[in-house]
Amino acid sequence: MRYDTLIRNARLIDGTNAPAYTADVAVRGGRIERIGDLSDARAAHETDAAGRVLAPGFIDVHTHDDTVVIRQPQMLPKLSQGVTTVIVGNCGISASPVTLRNEPPDPMNLLGAKAAFVYPRFSDYRAAVEAASPAVNVAALIGHTALRSNHMDDLQRTASASEIQAMRQQLRESLEAGALGLSTGLAYASAFSAETDEVLQLAGELTAFGALYTTHLRSEFEPVLEAMDEAFLIGHQARVPVIISHLKCAGAGNWGRSPQLLAALEQAAKTHPVGCDCYPYAASSSTLDLKQVTDAFRITITWSTPHPEMGGRDLQDIAGLWGLSLLDTAQRLQPAGAVYYGMDESDVRRILAHPLSMIGSDGLPEDPFPHPRLWGAFPRVLGHYSRDVGLFPLHTAVHKMTGLSAQRFGLRERGEIREGNWADLVLFDARTVRDVADFNQPQQAAEGIDGVWVNGVLSYQQGAASGNRAGVFLAR
Ligand code: ZN
Ligand code: CU
Repeated sequence: MRYDTLIRNARLIDGTNAPAYTADVAVRGGRIERIGDLSDARAAHETDAAGRVLAPGFIDVHTHDDTVVIRQPQMLPKLSQGVTTVIVGNCGISASPVTLRNEPPDPMNLLGAKAAFVYPRFSDYRAAVEAASPAVNVAALIGHTALRSNHMDDLQRTASASEIQAMRQQLRESLEAGALGLSTGLAYASAFSAETDEVLQLAGELTAFGALYTTHLRSEFEPVLEAMDEAFLIGHQARVPVIISHLKCAGAGNWGRSPQLLAALEQAAKTHPVGCDCYPYAASSSTLDLKQVTDAFRITITWSTPHPEMGGRDLQDIAGLWGLSLLDTAQRLQPAGAVYYGMDESDVRRILAHPLSMIGSDGLPEDPFPHPRLWGAFPRVLGHYSRDVGLFPLHTAVHKMTGLSAQRFGLRERGEIREGNWADLVLFDARTVRDVADFNQPQQAAEGIDGVWVNGVLSYQQGAASGNRAGVFLAR
Protein backbone atom coordinates (compact mmCIF):
# COMPACT_ATOMS: atom_id res chain seq x y z
CA MET A 1 0.00 0.00 0.00
CA ARG A 2 1.56 3.30 -1.06
CA TYR A 3 0.32 6.55 0.45
CA ASP A 4 1.01 10.18 -0.40
CA THR A 5 2.24 11.00 3.10
CA LEU A 6 3.11 8.99 6.20
CA ILE A 7 3.69 10.63 9.56
CA ARG A 8 5.27 8.06 11.86
CA ASN A 9 5.46 7.67 15.65
CA ALA A 10 3.53 10.83 16.44
CA ARG A 11 1.96 11.61 19.78
CA LEU A 12 -1.53 11.90 18.41
CA ILE A 13 -3.93 14.41 19.92
CA ASP A 14 -7.04 13.79 17.90
CA GLY A 15 -9.10 16.89 18.73
CA THR A 16 -11.84 15.07 20.66
CA ASN A 17 -10.41 16.11 24.04
CA ALA A 18 -9.01 12.58 24.50
CA PRO A 19 -5.42 12.25 25.81
CA ALA A 20 -2.54 11.65 23.41
CA TYR A 21 -1.52 8.22 22.14
CA THR A 22 1.24 7.10 19.79
CA ALA A 23 0.37 6.16 16.21
CA ASP A 24 1.24 6.52 12.53
CA VAL A 25 -1.01 8.49 10.21
CA ALA A 26 -1.31 7.85 6.46
CA VAL A 27 -2.71 10.40 4.03
CA ARG A 28 -3.91 9.91 0.49
CA GLY A 29 -5.95 12.06 -1.86
CA GLY A 30 -6.11 14.86 0.71
CA ARG A 31 -7.68 12.69 3.40
CA ILE A 32 -6.54 10.76 6.43
CA GLU A 33 -6.74 7.20 5.18
CA ARG A 34 -5.33 5.15 8.04
CA ILE A 35 -4.30 5.58 11.65
CA GLY A 36 -2.43 2.89 13.57
CA ASP A 37 0.78 0.87 13.34
CA LEU A 38 1.76 1.34 9.71
CA SER A 39 5.38 0.13 9.90
CA ASP A 40 4.99 -1.91 6.71
CA ALA A 41 3.46 0.92 4.68
CA ARG A 42 5.35 3.26 2.37
CA ALA A 43 4.62 6.75 1.11
CA ALA A 44 6.01 9.32 -1.28
CA HIS A 45 6.68 11.63 1.70
CA GLU A 46 7.55 10.16 5.07
CA THR A 47 8.09 12.13 8.28
CA ASP A 48 9.40 10.75 11.54
CA ALA A 49 7.40 12.57 14.19
CA ALA A 50 8.91 10.88 17.23
CA GLY A 51 8.73 13.13 20.27
CA ARG A 52 6.30 15.51 18.66
CA VAL A 53 2.55 16.05 18.72
CA LEU A 54 0.33 15.63 15.68
CA ALA A 55 -3.00 17.44 16.00
CA PRO A 56 -5.82 18.48 13.69
CA GLY A 57 -5.05 21.79 11.96
CA PHE A 58 -6.25 24.65 14.12
CA ILE A 59 -9.49 26.41 13.25
CA ASP A 60 -9.45 30.15 13.84
CA VAL A 61 -13.15 30.73 14.48
CA HIS A 62 -12.84 34.48 14.90
CA THR A 63 -11.01 36.34 12.16
CA HIS A 64 -11.12 39.48 10.08
CA ASP A 65 -9.17 37.83 7.27
CA ASP A 66 -11.94 38.50 4.72
CA THR A 67 -9.85 40.44 2.21
CA VAL A 68 -6.36 39.31 3.19
CA VAL A 69 -7.07 35.71 2.13
CA ILE A 70 -7.39 37.15 -1.38
CA ARG A 71 -4.66 39.80 -1.36
CA GLN A 72 -2.04 37.83 0.58
CA PRO A 73 -3.12 34.23 0.07
CA GLN A 74 0.07 32.87 1.65
CA MET A 75 -1.58 33.63 5.03
CA LEU A 76 1.70 33.35 6.92
CA PRO A 77 0.42 34.87 10.20
CA LYS A 78 -2.06 32.00 10.47
CA LEU A 79 -0.24 29.14 8.74
CA SER A 80 2.82 29.71 10.96
CA GLN A 81 0.63 29.06 14.04
CA GLY A 82 -0.72 25.79 12.68
CA VAL A 83 -4.03 27.30 11.61
CA THR A 84 -5.53 25.52 8.59
CA THR A 85 -9.02 27.10 8.52
CA VAL A 86 -10.18 30.67 9.14
CA ILE A 87 -13.74 31.84 9.67
CA VAL A 88 -14.18 35.36 8.31
CA GLY A 89 -17.03 37.85 8.59
CA ASN A 90 -17.09 38.28 12.37
CA CYS A 91 -18.27 41.25 14.47
CA GLY A 92 -20.91 42.35 11.95
CA ILE A 93 -18.37 43.17 9.28
CA SER A 94 -17.83 41.09 6.14
CA ALA A 95 -16.35 41.78 2.72
CA SER A 96 -19.56 40.61 1.09
CA PRO A 97 -22.30 41.13 0.10
CA VAL A 98 -21.25 44.77 0.01
CA THR A 99 -21.82 47.70 -2.36
CA LEU A 100 -20.32 50.89 -0.93
CA ARG A 101 -21.09 54.40 -2.09
CA ASN A 102 -18.58 56.02 0.25
CA GLU A 103 -15.66 54.94 2.42
CA PRO A 104 -16.59 51.96 4.62
CA PRO A 105 -18.20 52.87 7.96
CA ASP A 106 -16.32 52.10 11.18
CA PRO A 107 -15.43 49.27 11.87
CA MET A 108 -15.76 47.91 8.32
CA ASN A 109 -12.58 49.89 7.63
CA LEU A 110 -10.76 47.15 9.58
CA LEU A 111 -11.10 45.07 6.39
CA GLY A 112 -9.62 47.73 4.12
CA ALA A 113 -10.57 50.92 2.32
CA LYS A 114 -13.42 51.24 -0.19
CA ALA A 115 -11.36 49.65 -2.98
CA ALA A 116 -11.25 46.36 -1.01
CA PHE A 117 -15.04 45.98 -1.13
CA VAL A 118 -15.69 44.63 -4.60
CA TYR A 119 -18.05 41.72 -3.86
CA PRO A 120 -21.68 42.80 -4.31
CA ARG A 121 -22.85 39.21 -3.83
CA PHE A 122 -21.55 36.48 -1.52
CA SER A 123 -21.06 34.27 -4.57
CA ASP A 124 -18.65 36.91 -5.97
CA TYR A 125 -16.64 36.74 -2.78
CA ARG A 126 -16.60 32.96 -2.79
CA ALA A 127 -15.40 32.92 -6.43
CA ALA A 128 -12.64 35.42 -5.58
CA VAL A 129 -11.44 33.29 -2.67
CA GLU A 130 -11.41 30.21 -4.87
CA ALA A 131 -9.49 32.06 -7.60
CA ALA A 132 -6.91 33.32 -5.06
CA SER A 133 -6.36 29.79 -3.73
CA PRO A 134 -5.31 30.75 -0.20
CA ALA A 135 -3.04 28.55 1.89
CA VAL A 136 -5.81 27.96 4.46
CA ASN A 137 -9.45 26.92 4.18
CA VAL A 138 -11.99 29.75 4.39
CA ALA A 139 -15.54 29.75 5.75
CA ALA A 140 -17.59 32.92 6.07
CA LEU A 141 -20.25 34.66 8.09
CA ILE A 142 -22.39 37.53 6.80
CA GLY A 143 -22.03 40.78 8.71
CA HIS A 144 -25.10 42.61 9.91
CA THR A 145 -23.32 45.98 9.63
CA ALA A 146 -22.34 45.11 6.07
CA LEU A 147 -26.00 44.48 5.23
CA ARG A 148 -26.99 47.72 6.92
CA SER A 149 -24.43 49.68 4.92
CA ASN A 150 -25.98 48.35 1.69
CA HIS A 151 -29.53 49.40 2.42
CA MET A 152 -29.52 52.29 4.90
CA ASP A 153 -28.61 55.91 4.29
CA ASP A 154 -28.20 56.50 8.03
CA LEU A 155 -26.77 53.87 10.40
CA GLN A 156 -27.72 55.81 13.53
CA ARG A 157 -31.26 54.41 13.60
CA THR A 158 -33.01 51.05 13.44
CA ALA A 159 -33.91 49.72 9.99
CA SER A 160 -37.35 50.21 8.45
CA ALA A 161 -39.54 47.29 7.40
CA SER A 162 -38.50 47.63 3.76
CA GLU A 163 -34.81 47.88 4.66
CA ILE A 164 -35.12 44.74 6.77
CA GLN A 165 -36.80 42.99 3.83
CA ALA A 166 -33.91 43.96 1.57
CA MET A 167 -31.34 42.76 4.11
CA ARG A 168 -33.19 39.47 4.58
CA GLN A 169 -33.18 38.88 0.86
CA GLN A 170 -29.40 39.43 0.65
CA LEU A 171 -28.80 37.26 3.70
CA ARG A 172 -30.90 34.45 2.22
CA GLU A 173 -29.02 34.55 -1.09
CA SER A 174 -25.73 34.44 0.82
CA LEU A 175 -26.84 31.45 2.89
CA GLU A 176 -27.90 29.70 -0.31
CA ALA A 177 -24.40 30.35 -1.64
CA GLY A 178 -22.80 28.70 1.40
CA ALA A 179 -22.40 31.30 4.16
CA LEU A 180 -22.25 29.82 7.68
CA GLY A 181 -24.52 32.34 9.36
CA LEU A 182 -24.97 35.91 10.55
CA SER A 183 -22.65 37.97 12.72
CA THR A 184 -23.42 41.22 14.51
CA GLY A 185 -21.28 43.97 16.02
CA LEU A 186 -23.93 45.68 18.12
CA ALA A 187 -21.43 47.55 20.30
CA TYR A 188 -20.26 49.65 17.38
CA ALA A 189 -22.02 52.91 16.54
CA SER A 190 -22.77 51.58 13.05
CA ALA A 191 -25.06 48.88 14.53
CA PHE A 192 -25.83 50.02 18.07
CA SER A 193 -29.04 51.76 17.00
CA ALA A 194 -30.42 48.54 15.56
CA GLU A 195 -33.18 47.37 17.87
CA THR A 196 -33.29 43.74 18.95
CA ASP A 197 -36.25 43.23 16.63
CA GLU A 198 -34.16 44.15 13.57
CA VAL A 199 -31.67 41.39 14.40
CA LEU A 200 -34.46 38.98 15.33
CA GLN A 201 -36.05 39.38 11.93
CA LEU A 202 -32.74 38.83 10.14
CA ALA A 203 -32.00 35.81 12.30
CA GLY A 204 -35.31 34.38 11.13
CA GLU A 205 -33.59 33.66 7.80
CA LEU A 206 -31.05 31.41 9.51
CA THR A 207 -33.50 28.82 10.81
CA ALA A 208 -34.29 27.07 7.55
CA PHE A 209 -30.59 26.75 6.72
CA GLY A 210 -29.46 25.41 10.09
CA ALA A 211 -27.10 28.40 10.13
CA LEU A 212 -25.74 30.11 13.25
CA TYR A 213 -25.66 33.47 14.96
CA THR A 214 -22.44 35.01 16.29
CA THR A 215 -22.29 38.32 18.08
CA HIS A 216 -19.93 40.97 19.30
CA LEU A 217 -22.25 41.87 22.16
CA ARG A 218 -24.02 45.21 22.47
CA SER A 219 -21.85 45.76 25.53
CA GLU A 220 -18.80 44.09 27.03
CA PHE A 221 -18.82 46.62 29.87
CA GLU A 222 -21.26 46.87 32.81
CA PRO A 223 -24.41 45.84 30.84
CA VAL A 224 -22.71 42.68 29.52
CA LEU A 225 -25.21 40.27 31.12
CA GLU A 226 -28.13 42.11 29.52
CA ALA A 227 -26.28 41.96 26.21
CA MET A 228 -25.83 38.20 26.61
CA ASP A 229 -29.56 37.85 27.31
CA GLU A 230 -30.30 39.70 24.08
CA ALA A 231 -28.06 37.28 22.17
CA PHE A 232 -29.71 34.22 23.74
CA LEU A 233 -33.18 35.61 23.03
CA ILE A 234 -32.30 36.03 19.36
CA GLY A 235 -30.88 32.52 19.14
CA HIS A 236 -33.80 31.05 21.00
CA GLN A 237 -36.48 32.69 18.90
CA ALA A 238 -34.71 31.87 15.64
CA ARG A 239 -33.86 28.38 16.93
CA VAL A 240 -30.21 28.74 15.90
CA PRO A 241 -26.95 28.18 17.80
CA VAL A 242 -25.38 31.26 19.40
CA ILE A 243 -21.67 32.04 19.66
CA ILE A 244 -20.66 35.01 21.81
CA SER A 245 -17.60 36.57 20.22
CA HIS A 246 -14.47 37.28 22.30
CA LEU A 247 -16.28 36.95 25.62
CA LYS A 248 -14.69 39.26 28.17
CA CYS A 249 -15.19 41.60 31.10
CA ALA A 250 -14.16 44.93 29.59
CA GLY A 251 -13.36 48.00 31.62
CA ALA A 252 -11.95 48.31 35.13
CA GLY A 253 -15.42 48.61 36.68
CA ASN A 254 -16.29 45.23 35.24
CA TRP A 255 -13.32 43.15 36.37
CA GLY A 256 -13.95 39.97 38.32
CA ARG A 257 -17.37 39.30 36.83
CA SER A 258 -16.35 36.36 34.61
CA PRO A 259 -18.00 33.81 36.97
CA GLN A 260 -21.34 35.58 36.42
CA LEU A 261 -20.88 35.62 32.65
CA LEU A 262 -19.92 31.97 32.55
CA ALA A 263 -22.85 31.04 34.78
CA ALA A 264 -25.17 32.83 32.33
CA LEU A 265 -23.57 30.95 29.45
CA GLU A 266 -23.99 27.61 31.25
CA GLN A 267 -27.58 28.41 32.09
CA ALA A 268 -28.36 29.17 28.44
CA ALA A 269 -26.52 26.02 27.34
CA LYS A 270 -29.00 23.87 29.28
CA THR A 271 -31.74 24.59 26.77
CA HIS A 272 -29.92 25.81 23.69
CA PRO A 273 -26.64 25.30 21.75
CA VAL A 274 -24.43 28.21 22.84
CA GLY A 275 -20.72 28.85 23.16
CA CYS A 276 -18.14 31.57 22.97
CA ASP A 277 -14.77 32.33 21.51
CA CYS A 278 -11.90 34.14 23.20
CA TYR A 279 -8.30 35.14 22.60
CA PRO A 280 -5.53 34.54 25.14
CA TYR A 281 -4.59 38.12 26.07
CA ALA A 282 -5.76 40.68 28.63
CA ALA A 283 -5.77 43.45 26.02
CA SER A 284 -8.29 44.00 23.24
CA SER A 285 -7.93 45.79 19.93
CA SER A 286 -10.18 47.49 17.41
CA THR A 287 -10.72 50.89 15.91
CA LEU A 288 -10.12 53.76 18.34
CA ASP A 289 -13.45 54.27 20.10
CA LEU A 290 -13.93 57.63 21.85
CA LYS A 291 -16.33 55.95 24.29
CA GLN A 292 -13.52 53.67 25.47
CA VAL A 293 -10.97 56.41 26.03
CA THR A 294 -10.03 56.41 29.71
CA ASP A 295 -7.06 56.89 32.01
CA ALA A 296 -7.99 53.75 33.99
CA PHE A 297 -5.74 51.57 31.81
CA ARG A 298 -3.14 51.88 29.08
CA ILE A 299 -4.20 52.49 25.48
CA THR A 300 -1.77 52.31 22.57
CA ILE A 301 -2.39 53.56 19.04
CA THR A 302 -1.79 50.97 16.32
CA TRP A 303 -2.60 53.13 13.29
CA SER A 304 -3.93 56.58 12.51
CA THR A 305 -4.84 57.87 9.08
CA PRO A 306 -3.87 61.53 9.74
CA HIS A 307 -0.93 60.60 12.02
CA PRO A 308 0.62 57.30 10.87
CA GLU A 309 3.82 58.20 12.76
CA MET A 310 1.95 57.58 16.05
CA GLY A 311 1.52 53.84 15.37
CA GLY A 312 2.85 51.88 18.35
CA ARG A 313 2.78 54.84 20.79
CA ASP A 314 0.78 55.33 23.98
CA LEU A 315 -2.26 57.59 23.78
CA GLN A 316 -1.06 59.11 27.07
CA ASP A 317 2.32 60.03 25.54
CA ILE A 318 0.77 61.52 22.42
CA ALA A 319 -1.55 63.59 24.62
CA GLY A 320 1.50 64.85 26.54
CA LEU A 321 3.31 65.66 23.32
CA TRP A 322 0.39 67.62 21.94
CA GLY A 323 -0.66 69.18 25.24
CA LEU A 324 -4.22 67.89 24.81
CA SER A 325 -6.65 65.81 26.85
CA LEU A 326 -6.87 62.09 26.09
CA LEU A 327 -10.22 62.60 24.40
CA ASP A 328 -9.07 65.52 22.24
CA THR A 329 -5.97 63.56 21.31
CA ALA A 330 -8.06 60.54 20.33
CA GLN A 331 -10.33 62.79 18.29
CA ARG A 332 -7.40 64.26 16.38
CA LEU A 333 -6.03 60.75 15.62
CA GLN A 334 -9.29 59.55 14.00
CA PRO A 335 -9.74 57.37 12.11
CA ALA A 336 -7.37 55.19 14.08
CA GLY A 337 -6.81 51.79 15.67
CA ALA A 338 -5.96 50.98 19.28
CA VAL A 339 -4.98 48.33 21.78
CA TYR A 340 -6.81 48.62 25.10
CA TYR A 341 -5.23 46.98 28.16
CA GLY A 342 -8.70 46.78 29.64
CA MET A 343 -9.09 43.23 30.98
CA ASP A 344 -8.12 41.42 34.14
CA GLU A 345 -5.88 38.38 33.76
CA SER A 346 -7.96 36.20 36.07
CA ASP A 347 -11.09 36.83 33.96
CA VAL A 348 -9.14 35.96 30.81
CA ARG A 349 -7.98 32.69 32.37
CA ARG A 350 -11.38 31.72 33.68
CA ILE A 351 -13.02 32.23 30.28
CA LEU A 352 -10.19 30.47 28.43
CA ALA A 353 -10.47 27.46 30.70
CA HIS A 354 -14.24 27.11 30.45
CA PRO A 355 -15.47 24.04 28.51
CA LEU A 356 -17.78 26.18 26.33
CA SER A 357 -15.00 28.46 25.03
CA MET A 358 -13.14 28.07 21.75
CA ILE A 359 -10.01 29.87 20.61
CA GLY A 360 -10.33 32.62 18.03
CA SER A 361 -7.56 35.11 17.31
CA ASP A 362 -9.59 38.19 16.37
CA GLY A 363 -6.34 39.22 14.62
CA LEU A 364 -6.39 42.37 12.51
CA PRO A 365 -4.27 41.68 9.41
CA GLU A 366 -4.61 45.19 7.93
CA ASP A 367 -3.10 46.82 10.99
CA PRO A 368 0.51 48.04 10.48
CA PHE A 369 1.20 47.49 14.22
CA PRO A 370 -1.24 44.70 15.05
CA HIS A 371 -2.18 43.24 18.41
CA PRO A 372 0.10 40.16 18.77
CA ARG A 373 -2.91 37.81 18.72
CA LEU A 374 -2.68 37.96 14.90
CA TRP A 375 0.56 35.93 14.95
CA GLY A 376 0.50 34.38 18.40
CA ALA A 377 -2.95 33.37 19.70
CA PHE A 378 -2.79 29.60 19.12
CA PRO A 379 0.80 28.86 20.21
CA ARG A 380 0.19 31.10 23.24
CA VAL A 381 -2.63 28.82 24.36
CA LEU A 382 -0.50 25.70 23.79
CA GLY A 383 2.76 27.00 25.25
CA HIS A 384 2.02 29.72 27.76
CA TYR A 385 -1.42 28.78 29.08
CA SER A 386 -1.41 25.00 28.81
CA ARG A 387 2.23 24.03 29.36
CA ASP A 388 3.67 26.91 31.43
CA VAL A 389 0.65 28.09 33.46
CA GLY A 390 -1.02 24.66 33.55
CA LEU A 391 -4.49 26.08 32.91
CA PHE A 392 -5.62 22.88 31.18
CA PRO A 393 -4.04 19.76 29.64
CA LEU A 394 -2.64 19.99 26.13
CA HIS A 395 -5.39 17.80 24.67
CA THR A 396 -7.98 20.22 26.04
CA ALA A 397 -6.13 23.18 24.52
CA VAL A 398 -6.18 21.37 21.18
CA HIS A 399 -9.87 20.48 21.51
CA LYS A 400 -10.73 24.17 21.97
CA MET A 401 -9.11 24.99 18.64
CA THR A 402 -10.16 21.93 16.60
CA GLY A 403 -12.88 19.42 17.42
CA LEU A 404 -15.08 21.76 19.43
CA SER A 405 -14.76 24.51 16.82
CA ALA A 406 -15.60 22.25 13.87
CA GLN A 407 -18.61 20.90 15.72
CA ARG A 408 -19.93 24.33 16.73
CA PHE A 409 -19.51 25.84 13.28
CA GLY A 410 -20.67 22.77 11.38
CA LEU A 411 -17.38 22.17 9.53
CA ARG A 412 -17.82 18.58 8.47
CA GLU A 413 -14.94 16.09 8.21
CA ARG A 414 -12.53 18.52 9.89
CA GLY A 415 -11.32 19.24 13.39
CA GLU A 416 -10.55 15.65 14.36
CA ILE A 417 -7.88 13.19 13.30
CA ARG A 418 -10.07 10.37 12.15
CA GLU A 419 -9.96 8.02 9.17
CA GLY A 420 -11.84 9.58 6.26
CA ASN A 421 -11.52 13.18 7.46
CA TRP A 422 -9.68 15.83 5.47
CA ALA A 423 -5.98 15.85 6.29
CA ASP A 424 -5.65 19.27 7.94
CA LEU A 425 -2.79 18.54 10.32
CA VAL A 426 -0.21 20.31 12.46
CA LEU A 427 2.97 18.81 13.86
CA PHE A 428 4.48 20.66 16.82
CA ASP A 429 6.90 20.27 19.68
CA ALA A 430 4.95 20.50 22.92
CA ARG A 431 8.14 21.32 24.88
CA THR A 432 9.13 24.32 22.77
CA VAL A 433 5.99 25.67 21.15
CA ARG A 434 5.55 29.32 22.04
CA ASP A 435 4.23 32.64 20.78
CA VAL A 436 7.06 34.99 19.88
CA ALA A 437 4.93 37.94 18.83
CA ASP A 438 4.43 40.45 21.65
CA PHE A 439 3.09 43.97 22.03
CA ASN A 440 6.47 45.49 21.12
CA GLN A 441 7.24 43.25 18.16
CA PRO A 442 3.90 41.87 17.10
CA GLN A 443 4.73 40.46 13.69
CA GLN A 444 6.79 37.37 14.47
CA ALA A 445 6.17 33.72 13.70
CA ALA A 446 5.72 31.26 16.54
CA GLU A 447 8.37 28.72 17.49
CA GLY A 448 7.84 24.99 17.69
CA ILE A 449 5.44 24.56 14.77
CA ASP A 450 7.24 21.97 12.66
CA GLY A 451 4.80 21.09 9.90
CA VAL A 452 1.38 22.13 8.66
CA TRP A 453 -0.66 20.15 6.12
CA VAL A 454 -3.76 21.60 4.51
CA ASN A 455 -5.99 19.09 2.72
CA GLY A 456 -3.04 16.70 2.78
CA VAL A 457 -0.58 19.17 1.24
CA LEU A 458 2.53 20.15 3.20
CA SER A 459 2.15 23.93 3.38
CA TYR A 460 4.54 25.07 6.15
CA GLN A 461 7.73 23.48 7.41
CA GLN A 462 10.73 24.57 9.53
CA GLY A 463 9.66 28.18 9.76
CA ALA A 464 8.74 28.73 6.13
CA ALA A 465 5.77 28.36 3.84
CA SER A 466 6.27 25.63 1.26
CA GLY A 467 4.62 27.74 -1.44
CA ASN A 468 1.82 25.19 -1.86
CA ARG A 469 -1.57 26.75 -1.20
CA ALA A 470 -4.17 24.05 -0.79
CA GLY A 471 -6.97 25.80 1.07
CA VAL A 472 -10.55 25.49 -0.18
CA PHE A 473 -13.74 27.39 0.44
CA LEU A 474 -15.89 25.65 3.03
CA ALA A 475 -19.56 26.13 2.28
CA ARG A 476 -22.10 25.38 4.98
ZN1 ZN B 1 -15.54 42.04 17.81
CU1 CU C 1 -13.68 40.61 15.85
